[in-house]
Amino acid sequence: AGPVEVDVSKLAVGDMMTVQWRGRPIWIVHRSKEELATLPKMVPYLVDPYSHQSQQPPDMGNLHLQQGIRAVNPEYLVLVGICTHLGCIPSYMPEPGSVSARWPGGFLCPCHGSQYDLSGRVLANFPAPLNLPVPPYYFETDTLIKIG
Ligand code: FES
Repeated sequence: AGPVEVDVSKLAVGDMMTVQWRGRPIWIVHRSKEELATLPKMVPYLVDPYSHQSQQPPDMGNLHLQQGIRAVNPEYLVLVGICTHLGCIPSYMPEPGSVSARWPGGFLCPCHGSQYDLSGRVLANFPAPLNLPVPPYYFETDTLIKIG
């Protein structure tokens, strides 16, 4: 299968959708300004805050990696939704406080409890070793994403 086109024009702020690409689940999350504001605060709790060890497209841009955004357009996070520990599918848990007292929203793996922030960066002290990968993609229009 080749590239996949995704229309995100109906994806509300705070919502996530999943599409399949090369047999893998690809998540697209429409992040709010409040959610984006949590990203710099996560740095002390992360294994690889600047994603040096993680897969992402070469044209992602250093600035967005430094800021923890990990996306071409900060509003739309695009990730491969497979836990980097043993391959389970993490759950989207956007509600602050829903996983732990200081939980800012993110993803929780049901298999062994690994936690990822709202950029797919893995929190320390969990079994998953790496951030969730970012697949290759680009915006064909403001709301049409081509993955692959
Ligand atoms: Fe996700 Fe083990 S497979 S924590």
